Amino acid sequence: MARCRPNLSTLMFLVILQGAAVVLFCGWYYQLSPCGSEPPNGPKVHVLLLSTWRSGSSFLGQVFSQHPSVFYLMEPAWHVWSQLPKSSGRSLRMAVRDLFRSVFQCDLGVMDAYLPNQYNVSSLFMWSHSRALCSPPVCQLTPRDKFSNQTACFLKCGSQSLQKVQGSCDSYSHIVLKAVRIFELESLYPLLQDPNLNLRIIHLVRDPRAVVRSREESAKAFIRDNSILLDQKTIPAAEVQFLVMQEICRSHLRIHETALLKPPPFLKGRYKMVRYEDMVRNPLGEINALYEFVGLEMTKELQEWIYRVTHGKGQGSKREPFKITSRNAAEVSQAWRSALPHSKVKRIQQVCRAAMALHGYKAVSNEKEQKRLDLDLLTPLEPYQFSWIPTKAEQSGNTDQNKG
Ligand SMILES: *[C@@H]1O[C@H](CO)[C@@H](O)[C@H](O)[C@H]1NC(C)=O
Ligand SMILES: *[C@@H]1O[C@H](CO)[C@@H](O)[C@H](O)[C@H]1NC(C)=O
Repeated sequence: MARCRPNLSTLMFLVILQGAAVVLFCGWYYQLSPCGSEPPNGPKVHVLLLSTWRSGSSFLGQVFSQHPSVFYLMEPAWHVWSQLPKSSGRSLRMAVRDLFRSVFQCDLGVMDAYLPNQYNVSSLFMWSHSRALCSPPVCQLTPRDKFSNQTACFLKCGSQSLQKVQGSCDSYSHIVLKAVRIFELESLYPLLQDPNLNLRIIHLVRDPRAVVRSREESAKAFIRDNSILLDQKTIPAAEVQFLVMQEICRSHLRIHETALLKPPPFLKGRYKMVRYEDMVRNPLGEINALYEFVGLEMTKELQEWIYRVTHGKGQGSKREPFKITSRNAAEVSQAWRSALPHSKVKRIQQVCRAAMALHGYKAVSNEKEQKRLDLDLLTPLEPYQFSWIPTKAEQSGNTDQNKG
């Protein structure tokens, strides 16, 4: 019997052999699994890109959409708002929240309530912005690890069924949704507490003066959304944009208060704010930090792509306001300073005063300051040092002084 008892080194050899077999088998399994990179049923990460209209969220969306581990949908809440155009934003909150929950769980059947009788991939809002909808198993056009060409995808991939989208969603490790129609965090609490979800919220903010300038380029596109946001109130046309901005800036304050000043335990570590301006000044640094926050790996290809899209030429096309084009993003983010009349800038600074102070956007006190591009209006963010009481320097309009 003694011959049968393995000695210590034989045992160790067997353990190592078994380990090697597991590694080999897993590698083999990954290659065989239908779509490559991710194990289909592993724990998923769910990411909500929270922003408002014209705040650079299309760009941020692309940063995630083009990642090979990400299934991305742009603004599913659009379907809710456009189906119920006579509502108020408040009354649609829960419907939006429940839609997010279903889509995060890859239950695309929920879209049935918001789509026409006959539908396919092309019925989804801005579907061609999603690289996953241009890649297998939905469409053969773009291999998962390649960058998607929106125009080509639009021409070739629209007629697929939503069933395929569901299968696609199941096969990714990260489900990322963009949302510009959420103005508080409280309605999302059930998602944060849902044991089936692993939610991260990335909140993208932008200088409200730049937001106004960008919204003016496509003002007509916002008429219906403005009415919903302003609870269908009758408001003189000239006032609408200021009231909309006021709502948006108030929502920034509310979200800041909920997420950073008195967060409930389930929100801690799940919220991250990013300023558009920081992202265009230091795209790689900021995007690296965002990837890290949600557990995505940066690749050399993605780094090159990010550089390309933030350093191109031109200001994009007016006729296609939602399209992300190659342009010098840092330059574009200053365009409001020459484009907006100072009177308008003053109004925006009034309605957004607290949010601007909170996010480190300095006010200009006269037209000369507005036009002087060498005057940097962005204050570096020092987290958790925000004070509700403006400093003397701010009150007197001394824009050279940093807040404490
Ligand atoms: C994207 O696809 C369109 C249509 O197929 C093509 O004309 C265009 O050159 C492509 N763009 C890039 C950057 O490859
Ligand atoms: C499906 O998509 C194509 C566009 O790719 C469209 O022409 C067609 O009408 C769609 N079919 C249905 C039933 O919606």
